[in-house]
Amino acid sequence: MTKVYAVCNHKGGVGKTTSVLNLGVGFSRRRKKTLLIDLDPQSNLSQSMGLDEHFDNNIYGALKGEYQPEPVVVNKNLHVIPAILDLSGAELELAAVPARELLLREIIEKTSDSYDYIVIDCPPSLGLLTLNALAAAKSVIIPVQSEYLAVHGLKKIMETIEIVKKRLNSELELEGLFLTQYDKRKVLNRDIRETVAEAFGAKVFQTVIRDNIALAEAPVSQMDIYTYKKNSSGALDYASLTKEILQKN
Ligand SMILES: Nc1ncnc2c1ncn2[C@@H]1O[C@H](COP(=O)(O)OP(=O)(O)OP(=O)(O)O)[C@@H](O)[C@H]1O
Ligand SMILES: [Mg+2]
Repeated sequence: MTKVYAVCNHKGGVGKTTSVLNLGVGFSRRRKKTLLIDLDPQSNLSQSMGLDEHFDNNIYGALKGEYQPEPVVVNKNLHVIPAILDLSGAELELAAVPARELLLREIIEKTSDSYDYIVIDCPPSLGLLTLNALAAAKSVIIPVQSEYLAVHGLKKIMETIEIVKKRLNSELELEGLFLTQYDKRKVLNRDIRETVAEAFGAKVFQTVIRDNIALAEAPVSQMDIYTYKKNSSGALDYASLTKEILQKN
């Protein structure tokens, strides 16, 4: 059965897109058939894969009901439904559409290929696009930046997940949280790790994604971390997180 993950956090810049790309590539390298969906109007995921100019075949037109998108085939096990910048208009344009929170779920249900994993990159908000991701997902994965204010916002996401569970998607679960941009030399980062562990217990992944410049450099060359620098801490950390998630299933 397909496992659909929404990678979600309304705080910006916490590592959602980096995680979707490198988890997706990680799954596909382990021969899991994987579909990535870029649901962020910034189109960062599509840009980091060189796929941001698919004007006739993208998630924006699909949400507007113009067509069923044909996923871009990166390789046999990795497909992508890209975004374009026009997606920024979607929240307003879809405001009067009945059942507008369920549009992505319908698109996913109609995909003809059968995938092991579908991973959705959410925008940094809890608006209509993120609600669509949560309504379509089986599980939520939350990257948490290792700093005080990032932890502060977690309550809001948990409340949103509960509301979606009640009203839109009773099967939705929290898969887990993991820390990103972690620097163990910083006392604050270590404190945050403890705070998150206390608050979320077994829902916190063992893997911590360390602060690693290669993770920031790789998208400039439109590469995943394994292709860009396979021995970097970023590659090791994302390989470990991929393994942890696969083991949970
Ligand atoms: N572990 C890391 N170490 C160093 N830099 C990182 C790490 N993870 C992500 N980055 C960099 O931090 C920036 C933000 O990451 P990313 O775009 O993945 O976050 P995001 O949550 O998707 O942001 P947004 O909310 O804007 O969509 C990017 O420049 C990315 O390359
Ligand atoms: Mg992003």
